[in-house]
Amino acid sequence: MSSTAADAVSWYEDMSPGSGGLAPRSWYPASDAPRVSLNGEWAFRFSPDAGARDESFARPGFDASGWRTVEVPGHWALQGAGGAPAYTNVVYPFPVDPPRVPSENPTGDHLLRFTPPAGLPEGGDWVLRFDGVESCARVWLNGQELGDFKGSRLAHEFAVGGLLGAGENVLAVRVHAWSSGSYLEDQDQWWLPGIFRDVTLLHRPRGAPRDFFVHAGYDHRDGCGTLRVECEGAEGRILVPELGVDAPAGEPVTLPVEPWTAETPRLYDAELVTPGERIALRVGFRTVAVEDGVIKVNGRRLLLRGVNRHEFHPETGRTVDARTMRHDLVLMKRHNINAVRTSHYPPHPAFLDLCDELGLWVIDECDLETHGFVDLEWRGNPVDDERWTPALLDRAERMVERDKNHASVIIWSLGNECGTGRGLSAMAGWIRGRDPERLLHYEGDLSCQDVDLYSRMYPTHAEVELIGQRAEEPWGDPELDARRRAMPFIMCEYAHAMGNGPGGLSEYQRLFERYERCQGGFVWEWIDHGLAHPEHGFAYGGDFGEELHDGNFVCDGLLFPDRTPSPGLVEYKKVIEPVRIGPASRPGAFTVTNGYDFTDLGHLDFLWSHEVEGVIVASGALKVPELAPGASAEVAAETAGGEGVWTVRAVLAEDTAWAGRGHVVAWGQAESGAPRPPAPAAGARPVRGAGVITLGPGVFDAATGAPVRLGDLAVEGLRLDMWRAPTDNDNGAAWQPDERYGVRWRELGLHRMRHRVDAVEAGRDALTVRTRVAPAGSDLGLRTTYRWTSAGDRLGLTVSVVPEGDWRVPLPRLGIRFGLPAAFGRARWFGGGPGEAYPDTRAAAMLGLWERDVDALQTPYVRPQENGARADVRWAELTDDSGSGLRAEGGTPFWFTARRWTNERLDAAEHLPDLVAGDRVWVGLDHAVQGIGSQSCGPGVLPEHRLHAAPAEFSFVFSPLG
Ligand code: GAL
Repeated sequence: MSSTAADAVSWYEDMSPGSGGLAPRSWYPASDAPRVSLNGEWAFRFSPDAGARDESFARPGFDASGWRTVEVPGHWALQGAGGAPAYTNVVYPFPVDPPRVPSENPTGDHLLRFTPPAGLPEGGDWVLRFDGVESCARVWLNGQELGDFKGSRLAHEFAVGGLLGAGENVLAVRVHAWSSGSYLEDQDQWWLPGIFRDVTLLHRPRGAPRDFFVHAGYDHRDGCGTLRVECEGAEGRILVPELGVDAPAGEPVTLPVEPWTAETPRLYDAELVTPGERIALRVGFRTVAVEDGVIKVNGRRLLLRGVNRHEFHPETGRTVDARTMRHDLVLMKRHNINAVRTSHYPPHPAFLDLCDELGLWVIDECDLETHGFVDLEWRGNPVDDERWTPALLDRAERMVERDKNHASVIIWSLGNECGTGRGLSAMAGWIRGRDPERLLHYEGDLSCQDVDLYSRMYPTHAEVELIGQRAEEPWGDPELDARRRAMPFIMCEYAHAMGNGPGGLSEYQRLFERYERCQGGFVWEWIDHGLAHPEHGFAYGGDFGEELHDGNFVCDGLLFPDRTPSPGLVEYKKVIEPVRIGPASRPGAFTVTNGYDFTDLGHLDFLWSHEVEGVIVASGALKVPELAPGASAEVAAETAGGEGVWTVRAVLAEDTAWAGRGHVVAWGQAESGAPRPPAPAAGARPVRGAGVITLGPGVFDAATGAPVRLGDLAVEGLRLDMWRAPTDNDNGAAWQPDERYGVRWRELGLHRMRHRVDAVEAGRDALTVRTRVAPAGSDLGLRTTYRWTSAGDRLGLTVSVVPEGDWRVPLPRLGIRFGLPAAFGRARWFGGGPGEAYPDTRAAAMLGLWERDVDALQTPYVRPQENGARADVRWAELTDDSGSGLRAEGGTPFWFTARRWTNERLDAAEHLPDLVAGDRVWVGLDHAVQGIGSQSCGPGVLPEHRLHAAPAEFSFVFSPLG
């Protein structure tokens, strides 16, 4: 099928899915039939365009000695072998003229010389498999063309039996960055061509099956499983030794079993025995269905506590090794996540084996997105153009056939953000025919005509509530409306974890718990796609000189690129914890509720402790009954009561595959005895001196009234602060209908407030400084009065703020900030911790005594922005190595930050290396802060978490330490 100059479209530009390959079939990790991995160093030649149609490299004897090498699997652009990564969210980075692609089409020619190991079986056939190549490949073995394919994140196989020699063989693969397939792969991620998954030669002995399909249902009414294995192309028997099953393939066997669930991933080792091949299987029995308008597995309603996972590694892109895959899943399990949507393509096939083993509910999504047509009002959308339907069906088949034998996969998804069209209906029809035992998902068609679930992205809490009541806006067609209204509801994406956030998780969770129809969702997304970069630390869109790009929108995960959990993940873990532990009627007593869907609490131990100001005064184990799912009990710690904080932790009683005994699954706290506000400091009289005013341990500038010393400690720039370096969620997304406060704040000039001193009054028992804080060009302002008092070595400050003008936006923060010498870099506080928290991201803040270096208080968001606040702080100390420093106590609990740069410097930084420590530690003590929300792609801050400009008064007491 080689192209000639006269061809209008070349092989990679026609709409067909490919040619010459084998029909798709199941993936399995191993069998007794030999396999040869062809992963490793391949010879490689890069061309910046596809113009050179010279295919002589595929001929035997071609001299590639001048070529460089690349690692397969891998992306050439990440190996310095040519081209560069490019990031766009929605837009195609080339002219939209389907199925044509640019002549500037980065091309990678790959060559591998290999000699099969000695002793491999004769006879049978050999199959060459590619598990993933972006965006297309044309393949030759020993000079013979095998065929070509598109469908980057799908497996493609060729029969190579007769061509494979016992001696040296030459495998040649041409890969283009762009193909007609690129129109179907417009996912929000880096464009990264290459042979990025495994390449394998598999022996297919005579008498081996062509394929097989494991059906393993579970009937919760009688506790029986039914196993039936369809075996194609060979006689087969299915053996399950543990169950005493030895039955012919094709025949159903029904017997009592333990079911598979994500909470109890019970797998039975089995074997499919055929005359030519013995295939090891792991069978999980479960039945998924929609009943009474909800998704049920094994007869019980599910609550999906999910994440969207792209395949990503900061060094190797979408080449993700087995260790990293397991690590992702272990991290998910440790953070109470029970579901993964494989956004937006089938993952490496081994990933699903791990989901079976560790226990995750999976939405397996097809490699299909045509989002870039949205800006063209969907003109020419391939999913509504019959000429593309074979390619769409090919993708659906390749997904289902490859992944059909996994217990974890309960839902097939047609793809993501493709608009609507006949091609999607054709895919749905095919999948239903082939696998009626799973549910169908697609979010992009609000009519839900092809699917079993009503699924949405980023709806507001208010809308979710209506949907929960089955009272959402009607859909035009009454029949479809009735059908959709009867469906279960999930959010395939919500809570956009870009930068600081997402906020509002707890409020969503309450809706999932209140409304049976709302069966949870999948946070967007698992990991930031920041690519390791010598200068920027982690790179995002634009850092490789892309002409079109979407900046740091590619960094919107719960993990930082190096897989460190972000505060968002810690928050999510707390919000979705499967056991609720809340204070009961009396100190030391708690209500424990089992929030699992299937298991009782027998696998957990409950430990309590009673702390006073961070010191444990008593602790012990709690007896909690083995509550059934949904059941609650009140339990009490054996304690004398009194004041302080009681904490109950639910921990794993035994080691599991994903965490050791003692791992904390859930916790709850109760506080008794209100925090004592500090004694009002008053008594001393301000004394005027040469250019200064002295009040107790405080020395103030006589002209500005600002403190310059506290005892021996130099204090700089203490003043009202209302600015924060806008977060990605503050800035919001351009398409958001609601006001984007981050943008508004800057327009109003909140980042350039001026502080006018109106009076410095040394009174009888107080120093009063009257100011007005306002930006140039505006009549908005904040009348701010600082009232300083002192008793003994303590200095009290009361700040009163009265807004002036028509403030229509919330304030970023409201508090004071000041600088201390850099040596005071050790923080200790009693309050929420250990991690960052904001008004709508504070569920995971645990009340206690915490200690961190100032450097460790920073959260390394890939694009620097406001971060690191600690919630509910009663007092905080900053000290140097000798222990001297400053203590600040709040009249009411406050928000505490400390960093080695100002908010302005944080705001100016674009990448982490732009943040350089100065000679000060800047401390923020905030009376209130604005919530975070999720407006970088979803709803903004809920009204109750907004910081309205209103009269406020707050106070602190400072004392020198050491
Ligand atoms: C969704 C999309 C995702 C991602 C997300 C924003 O619309 O499905 O792929 O782009 O928005 O990060």
